[in-house]
Amino acid sequence: MQWMGDNSIAILPAANEKVRSRDVNFHFRQDSDFWYLTGFDEPEAVVVIIPGRKHGEFILFNREKDPIQETWHGVRLGQEGAIETLGADDAFPITDIDDILPGLMEGKDRIYFELGVNPEFDQQILEWRNQLTNAQHKGESRPGEMIDLKHHLHEMRLIKTQAEIQRMRYAANVSAKAHIALMKACASGKNERHMEAELEYHYALNDCRHAAYPSIVAAGNNANILHYVENDSELEDGDLLLTDAGCEFEYYASDISRTIPINGRFSKAQAELYDLVLAAQEAAIEMVKPGNHWNDIHDKAVEIITQGLIDLKILKGSLKVNLIKETYKEFYMHKTGHWLGLDVHDVGDYQVHGQPRLLEAGMVLTVEPGLYINKDNTRVAKKWRGIGIRIEDDVAVTKTGYDVLSKAAPKDREKIEQLMQ
Ligand code: GLY
Ligand code: MN
Ligand code: MN
Repeated sequence: MQWMGDNSIAILPAANEKVRSRDVNFHFRQDSDFWYLTGFDEPEAVVVIIPGRKHGEFILFNREKDPIQETWHGVRLGQEGAIETLGADDAFPITDIDDILPGLMEGKDRIYFELGVNPEFDQQILEWRNQLTNAQHKGESRPGEMIDLKHHLHEMRLIKTQAEIQRMRYAANVSAKAHIALMKACASGKNERHMEAELEYHYALNDCRHAAYPSIVAAGNNANILHYVENDSELEDGDLLLTDAGCEFEYYASDISRTIPINGRFSKAQAELYDLVLAAQEAAIEMVKPGNHWNDIHDKAVEIITQGLIDLKILKGSLKVNLIKETYKEFYMHKTGHWLGLDVHDVGDYQVHGQPRLLEAGMVLTVEPGLYINKDNTRVAKKWRGIGIRIEDDVAVTKTGYDVLSKAAPKDREKIEQLMQ
């Protein structure tokens, strides 16, 4: 509201329900921006914010209580509930929005909304505004300037409060427990999907019903597909298992990758590549502190991985030439991380005025280098083929450095082997 200034209005719709198959919807998940502003998890709602409005600044349009609908589909908060539970100043039935909202927009200098996110809703806002423009000819009001709400709202979301970090720490701890359970349950002859079930069982046991994204449980060469989600292959003795999975707690995501030997012991070749990825990850995490640039983290991981690949004779030539030619990209083709928050790939710009962003306390990001050598890659010695490794942690930027929120998930080779015994 401070940023919006006087005589302005912000309007933001809830997420829509999405059909999965006839008469069956996907589980509803609120839009992250809407959740951030309201903490309200029902569809068919619109939040309106009007700084300085005497009758209340936080206005919600939402579904009315309806005994029949609630019998079929679940309890609704209703207007009284919205005021009591969410602290809304005013709440109206969503069915009355056409009658009420244009009046709230009337005479405002600026109208903030999320341009382009929901084209139908954009159209609706234009229609309400046109009503006012038409009325203006009768001398009643003037249409406000339309301003995109996204950018500023996302800059706010990028810097987490302590309350947000607390939730993210909890989510990361639950995910770490789930990864540990998976390590203990892992055995050849089982299926990737059994491991996925292990994760989700432990999320649910710990108050986290939903995964923040589809779990990646990739045995052997499947790990070389970065967003592998089939999760339907048998776990084979001698292979690695790459698991990239995290739960959501009160809408806040965690995102952890661990790579383990299915039979409980890393082979020599697996261990050499694993230690290289881990060294790159640990050095990259050391780069997380206020004042460093966003890209310093990736550059550090790339440097260590490239030097390691030269030492293991997978790449030839000098570090400098390999970095210039980006030869590492055959084996490490993604970035070293992303912002993390209400969305697993969270909002916030990575560059400011064309320059990599400076890290600030309150940002949370992942650090997730990997190495991927496809089974069909005949350019490398046979012993390396079919190995895919990623190690990923969730890291908060603190005033003086970093705090690894996901540190409860073991990643030292010896610790993993011990757990698996
Ligand atoms: N799980 C997706 C990612 O790590 O970014
Ligand atoms: Mn991940
Ligand atoms: Mn990630």
